[in-house]
Amino acid sequence: MDQIIVTGNGALSGQIPIAGAKNACLTLMPATLLSDEPLTLTNAPRLSDIQTMTTLLQSLGAEVTSLQDGQVIAMSSHDLNNHVAHYDIVRKMRASILVLGPMLARDGHAVVSLPGGCAIGARPVDLHLKALEAMGAELELKEGYVHAKAPGGLKGGVVEFPFVSVGATENALMAATLAKGTTVLKNAAKEPEIIDLAHCLQKMGAQIDGEGTDTITIQGVDRLHGATHPVVTDRIELGTYMLAPAIAGGEVELLGGRRDLLEAFCQKLEEAGVQITETDKGLKVARNGNGVRAVDVTTEPFPGFPTDLQAQMMALLCTADGVSVLEETIFENRFMHAPELMRMGAKIDVHGGTATVTGVPQLKGAPVMATDLRASVSLILAGLAAEGQTVVSRVYHLDRGYEHVVRKLEGVGAKIERVREQ
Ligand code: UD1
Repeated sequence: MDQIIVTGNGALSGQIPIAGAKNACLTLMPATLLSDEPLTLTNAPRLSDIQTMTTLLQSLGAEVTSLQDGQVIAMSSHDLNNHVAHYDIVRKMRASILVLGPMLARDGHAVVSLPGGCAIGARPVDLHLKALEAMGAELELKEGYVHAKAPGGLKGGVVEFPFVSVGATENALMAATLAKGTTVLKNAAKEPEIIDLAHCLQKMGAQIDGEGTDTITIQGVDRLHGATHPVVTDRIELGTYMLAPAIAGGEVELLGGRRDLLEAFCQKLEEAGVQITETDKGLKVARNGNGVRAVDVTTEPFPGFPTDLQAQMMALLCTADGVSVLEETIFENRFMHAPELMRMGAKIDVHGGTATVTGVPQLKGAPVMATDLRASVSLILAGLAAEGQTVVSRVYHLDRGYEHVVRKLEGVGAKIERVREQ
């Protein structure tokens, strides 16, 4: 297994290109199952989660070809010959459940293993299943698999989510495009990835209104056709690299960055004393001279502060002036990075969903362990400003969501290398 070694090396400067969004790509790919015509995605990120989704779709009979060094994914589902998504693939990635709605909508039957994924809380899929039931699906849970049937096809219905779920909104949205009649999704997720999915489905001929608001209305159509769609910018990768100069000092331009994807996060960074400017190529982030101030952060569904940037933000606040309180409201058990940051000298108190961070003047390098995707990158960020060497183990988590992390950070002057574990 590989390790990443980061040595605090002072201020950063230069540019980092931001890739297409992992989470958008992982919902756009299963959309291929809705049509027998080709769907091509451009601006795709090169990540192991995308590989996993590729393997899953191929196991169902879809053709998936990676072109232009992985930045283009050409898919065709004209001949689906298997409707069983096996545990062996699904367990690797929770987003695998997103094949359920499309397969069921198109062919009236599907069997999908219950997923695994990051170890951040219980993360059930009950909302996905309830939404499909509201569209007439008959579901049975047997031996860890969801057996779904809709013999006469799915029918439009009203789905009212008790709380916001990104994945359940995506599954329901895809399924509803081919359901007979009108489906209304209430308390739907508003994330940019949902808007991106809706735009792609619209290009394929779907009738969707209200994406980006909490009520999405879908008028089912008989069939969807092919399309080509560019994946939206990865706002979590963007936010992660915005934190690099915020933590280490200096000035970095994030190419392709858009403030509207991350307004709540940008406001918190500015409150902490970091400068953000919009440029014609993206966003420029600078912290020169002064350190950062403590700020309080509460994670919320979009447009609130994203849970996927909570760990990275905590890395910044470890050396802020004062006491910061971070509240995690989306996932239980999402502070696994805290004990690792404490190994580097951070002062953090975790009680349930609240972490209180008392800033210290300087973190010190230490051997640390990545526990999930976002936690792993928070340790690398912390290492950028720590004194001495930080050695991050279990970096396979990182490969799920960050392409070329070493190259991107080296490009702005960080001292970072990937080595085989000794
Ligand atoms: C997606 C993102 C993930 C991000 C999360 C919240 C992808 C591939 N992943 O995950 O990176 O952290 O949104 O922004 O896009 N829940 C239920 N029942 C369900 C579904 C969810 O109880 O059926 C709960 C979850 O356990 C969690 C909350 O709802 O506490 C929100 O989860 P959800 O928005 O569904 O997250 P994902 O779609 O899994």
